[in-house]
Amino acid sequence: MSEVRHPGWVHDRVLAPVAARGVAGDGRVGCVGNPFDQLSLDQLRRRQSLKWRAYPPEVLPLWVAEMDTLPAEPVRRALEEALALGDTGYPWGTGYAEAYAEAAGTHWGWRPDPAATVLVSDVMTGVAEVLGLVTGPGDAVVLTPPVYPPFFAFSAHLGRELVHAPLGPDGRLDPAALEAAFATATAGGRRAALLLSNPHNPTGTLHTRDELAAVAALAEAAGVRVVVDEIHAPLSYAGVGTGGPGFTPYLSVAGAERGLVVYSASKGWNLAGLKAALVVAGDGAREDLAQMPAEVTHGASSLGVLAHTVALREGWPWLSEHLDGLDQNRHLLADLLAAELPAVGYRPPAATYLGWLDCRELGLPQEPAAFFLESAGVALSPGSDFGPPGSGHARLNFATSSAVLTEAVQRMGAAVSELDRRPRSAGPVT
Ligand SMILES: Cc1ncc(COP(=O)(O)O)c(C=O)c1O
Repeated sequence: MSEVRHPGWVHDRVLAPVAARGVAGDGRVGCVGNPFDQLSLDQLRRRQSLKWRAYPPEVLPLWVAEMDTLPAEPVRRALEEALALGDTGYPWGTGYAEAYAEAAGTHWGWRPDPAATVLVSDVMTGVAEVLGLVTGPGDAVVLTPPVYPPFFAFSAHLGRELVHAPLGPDGRLDPAALEAAFATATAGGRRAALLLSNPHNPTGTLHTRDELAAVAALAEAAGVRVVVDEIHAPLSYAGVGTGGPGFTPYLSVAGAERGLVVYSASKGWNLAGLKAALVVAGDGAREDLAQMPAEVTHGASSLGVLAHTVALREGWPWLSEHLDGLDQNRHLLADLLAAELPAVGYRPPAATYLGWLDCRELGLPQEPAAFFLESAGVALSPGSDFGPPGSGHARLNFATSSAVLTEAVQRMGAAVSELDRRPRSAGPVT
C-alpha cells in the first residue's frame, strides 16, 4: 500500500487505536477491537477468492460481497474435524433446516417448519428453481431496482420477461409502482412472480412488517407469487447502537402464506465458498415446493451444510462482534466521504455491509465504478448493473479494515480532485 496522508481525525479515531492494539509478527492485529482489522493486506492478497483475484494487486477491491475476516471458531473447528476424518462425501439429514428454524425462532421471532424446507446448492439456484415452479417461459418476473444484478440475469436466463417496480427515492418499496408492475406482469392471464431482496441489496433497506404486508396484499389481489431472498437477514444493525426495527421474515407476515423464501448462512458468516442454501415454503406454498425435483437438492456441498449449520447454532457471538465492526465501518465510511467526497450521497445502511454511493453530483466523465477503477485503483460494483436507477451510482463493500477503507476513499477523493483540475471534454454521466 502506498504511503497515505491521513486526516487528523482518521488518525485519532481509527489508526491510533489499531496501532495501540499491536500488530502480531504474522501481520495480524490482535482481535480486541474491530475484527476487520485482523488480517493484513498481504494476507488478503494471498486469498484465491474472486474479490482478491479479479483485479491486479495495486487495486483495492471493495466490490463483490465477501468479508475480509476470519471464520467463526466453531465453524473452523467443525471443518477441520470433518477434513481430518475424510468426511467429504454427500450431505445427509435435515440438520441445516433445523438449525435455521431454531435460529430464526430465537433471533427473528418466527420458527419455520423444517418439513417445509428444501436444501439447494446456493441462493441463486434456489431462486431460479422457485421461479421455475411458480412461473413458466414467457411469464413475468417483477423486480425492484436498483437490485442485486443476478436477479436480472437469472430471470432472463429462465426466459421470463422482466417488469420493473423501482424503489422510491427514499430507497423504500413503492406500492403504486408494484401495483402497476403487477398489472403489466399478469396482463393476458400470464403467471407472474415478484422477486424481492430483504434486506435489500444494494441499499441495505430493511422492509418493515407493514411494507411486507402491503406487498403480500397487493400480490394476492393480483395473483402474483412472492419469492424473497433473505440471505442478508443476519446483517441487520437493529441490535447494534442506534438500531431501529430489525429484520422481518416475509413468511411471518400476515397474508404471506403463499410466499417462498430462499435463505443461506453464507452471507452472514462469510461462507460463500461452502455452498448450501434452503428454500422455505409458506403454508400455502408447500404443494409448489413439493414439485421441486429431488435431484435439485443434491447440489449442496456437505462441508457447506456442515459450516452453515454450525454457524447458525454457534456463530452468533462471532456475528455480533462483526456487526459491531461493520457498524463502525458504515459510520467511518460516512465520515470519510464527508471529508474526501462531500458531493457523494450516502446513507449508512440499516443492514448489509454494502454502501450505495450516489455519485451523480460528481459529474464524472464515465460510470463511477469505471472511473474509480481507472483513476483511483479502487474496484466498486457498477451501479448500472443494478438496473436503470443505479446509473450514476456505485456499490462499495465496507467489510474490510479501517486502513483499506480509509485509503480507498482517500484515493477516490484524490482522483476526483485531480479531475477537477483538468479541463472537461465530455458531459457528466448521470
Ligand atoms: C441478495 C443476494 N442474493 C444472493 C446472493 C448470492 O448467494 P449465493 O452465492 O448463495 O447464490 C448474494 C451475494 O452477494 C446476494 O447479495
